Amino acid sequence: MNRKITEEYDGFEFKYPQILALTKRQLEDQLWFSSEYDVKLDELEFRFDLSDNEKHFVLKTLPLFIRYEVYVGNFWVDVYAKHFKAPECQELASVINMVERAIHARFYRQISEVLRLDTDDHYTDWKNHEELRERDKYLSKWLKEGEPDQQMLAYSLIEGVGLFSNFLGFRSFQLNGRNKLVVTSKGTIQSSSDEDLHSEALTTSLLIKWQEIGFTFEGSELHQWFVDLVKYFVERENIIVRGSMLTDELNGVTIQDMQDYIKHRCNVVLERLGCQPLYNVKSKVAEQFDNAVTGYKLTDFFTKGVGSEYTSGWSEQSFVDCIMKGD
Ligand SMILES: [Fe+2]
Ligand SMILES: [Fe+2]
Repeated sequence: MNRKITEEYDGFEFKYPQILALTKRQLEDQLWFSSEYDVKLDELEFRFDLSDNEKHFVLKTLPLFIRYEVYVGNFWVDVYAKHFKAPECQELASVINMVERAIHARFYRQISEVLRLDTDDHYTDWKNHEELRERDKYLSKWLKEGEPDQQMLAYSLIEGVGLFSNFLGFRSFQLNGRNKLVVTSKGTIQSSSDEDLHSEALTTSLLIKWQEIGFTFEGSELHQWFVDLVKYFVERENIIVRGSMLTDELNGVTIQDMQDYIKHRCNVVLERLGCQPLYNVKSKVAEQFDNAVTGYKLTDFFTKGVGSEYTSGWSEQSFVDCIMKGD
């Protein structure tokens, strides 16, 4: 049958093993649950052991996280699944939507609850900051506007680049000999591994579509449009990074490191689309962090509250509770 990835049809024959492999990776290799991370274990550090700069970073970056997850969840269902109609894509979209809402958004909510910031005032604090309002506008604009390929490309940056400088900031609490916010830091790495996969899911779907219709992306008008979008995105993310810091470094990670990392992540997306990288950047911190992002499954059996339940995906404590109750 000569159907395309964007076409509706009545059969259920699988045709795209690349898409199935991404769903499998999400479900079988890197699935985690918010309840596996006991963020409460970081509570005392959050309250009493963070510098003003560290506190500022956490409080400034956190409010938009849940909103971000809800936007991307909507994107997978309302935009991606409506364009990529092959059954493999429908399955992938529902799995990713579940991850965004029931895992990522839940995890960030947990942090807000521990900080006693689980209030609408906190969740809407981004409205008080121009740079965060701009990021929000970008998210909602590409949910509703543009040609489907533009929407997919815009969201490949949101998934693969947006929030990554913030993730690096959270990771810094565990870098250079530091050992703060262990649970939060590791949860954000799990989350960033997922976002990296989601971005790859978009570039993979686009490459299949383009191959099927004989479209060459690099050098096209769409490519030029995307390069301009990348530049705009980098500029906006750089402003967000500056706003998230009181000084020019956080736990040894400088603003420059974060900004280089944003460019590096854009190169990753461009390369996945078969294009030349746009930026000449090499950041050691970025490389270290990227290894953690792509080397998902951070099992750490030595830290309480992190890791012991992952490999099987069930909670050891719930199992013990069942036995004790005689269930
Ligand atoms: Fe997410
Ligand atoms: Fe995502």
